Amino acid sequence: MVHLAILDRVHDVVILGGGPGGYAAALFAHNFGLNVALVEADKVGGTCLHRGCIPAKSWLEAAGVFATVAAAGSFGVETSPPQFNWQKGLARKQTVVDQLHKGLAGLLKQRKVEVVTGVGRLDGGNRVVVGDRVLEGRTVIVATGSAPRSIPGYDFDGSLIVSSDHALDWPARPARVAIIGAGAIGCEFASLLADLGSEVHLLELVSSLVPGSEPEAAKALERGLTKRGVKVRTGVIVGAPRFANGSVVVPFGSESVEVEVVLVAVGRGPRTDGIGLETTKVEVERGYLKVDMETMQTAHPGIYAVGDIVAGGPQLAHAGFAEGMSAITHIATGKPAPVNFWAIPLVVYTHPEFASVGRTEEKARQAGYQVETASHLMNGVARAIIRGDNQGIVKVVSEKGGPILGASIVGPDAGELIHELMYAVGWEALPSDAAAFVHAHPTLAEAVGETLLALAGKSLH
Ligand code: NAI
Repeated sequence: MVHLAILDRVHDVVILGGGPGGYAAALFAHNFGLNVALVEADKVGGTCLHRGCIPAKSWLEAAGVFATVAAAGSFGVETSPPQFNWQKGLARKQTVVDQLHKGLAGLLKQRKVEVVTGVGRLDGGNRVVVGDRVLEGRTVIVATGSAPRSIPGYDFDGSLIVSSDHALDWPARPARVAIIGAGAIGCEFASLLADLGSEVHLLELVSSLVPGSEPEAAKALERGLTKRGVKVRTGVIVGAPRFANGSVVVPFGSESVEVEVVLVAVGRGPRTDGIGLETTKVEVERGYLKVDMETMQTAHPGIYAVGDIVAGGPQLAHAGFAEGMSAITHIATGKPAPVNFWAIPLVVYTHPEFASVGRTEEKARQAGYQVETASHLMNGVARAIIRGDNQGIVKVVSEKGGPILGASIVGPDAGELIHELMYAVGWEALPSDAAAFVHAHPTLAEAVGETLLALAGKSLH
């Protein structure tokens, strides 16, 4: 086949996919003077900016404001019961997304990244075909991201059975919702919908929320969501839905719930079909690309993969950023700049917020460590009590006589507090070293300080 046109120059890097993994690689390349083409079928920003992190957190923020106003009376702030204007919430969500999209597009332009709009496909080693253009790259980074998966019987129709993509643009608040899957997405939607007054049934296959997380933290999150009205059912297998009179009946075990809409949040699968991988030597495992995690390079020299499509990698926007930076550093210098995957925090922006970093107690034991742990409840923390939000826990895990291996936090601002422990995990700090620092009083961070003191055998409160 003869291609119609060849671009006038060979780029140092051609990136396929403009989500967090791809755009971070594109932005970071300027540090090394690399010239970059970024191929994106839709708008730069990808799932995170348009259908994931940003719009979801915008909704969660709105729900949080609503809940705060609804509870204002306990602070002596007397208001009439708040009303939530869904259309305004939706519009604000879009304003936030549009503002960030504009900023990102401007930054890419400023960094002289050539953004090529269209569906790209790999064509042999270093070529990416976009319509009638062929982009040649000294190297190629594949960053095509992921899409929501479903389960048998629950095909997405956008109205009765939906994914998070649809739910972020619901035209009105659904009154009764079943959410299948209590990972990050399921828990976040359960939290925001419950805060806004919907009846929410959260149905999870395994025995805890956020599977794989520290059990005490998962329990604290479950208690918090239950207190806010979410009907949580763990260890349940949902059967095929029944559709009747515009509603859906979701059976599980001997029970069932009838709802207006079912949100399926059972994970996301890689978007790697039809991108020409068969024309390369890239190794693919159930749709995910295998890479050398030290460099993010695939089995095909010069082709890298970053983001949600990486086999065994975390599907997190910030992991995508780090992987993109790692790939670019290897391309520019020939030296590996591996991501410290253990020190990447996970934040679930529920109310109460959930955050973790490093190993859980169980994962540390499985890795062969003798472990020590310490926990501190939020309920006695002065700032949390002042905030009227004192449910939760901090738990820190260390090697016996050795460094801090991991931590989990549930409670107000957990997603900010976890970064204190990110450094501890990343720098392999000893509990006694970390505990030697004095936290300001009264702060939420004191909960971390108290846990570290306890772990160092010097508990205070
Ligand atoms: P997930 O993998 O985090 O959770 C899926 C949940 O569905 C698991 O708890 C699983 O046990 C459950 N499940 C699977 N099959 C089921 C079934 N048949 N019935 C009931 N439950 C079932 O996936 P999720 O929440 O869809 O998120 C996708 C990806 O996006 C994840 O990697 C997640 O970490 C990431 N993400 C991260 C966010 C954050 O960092 N705040 C927010 C949203 C997504």
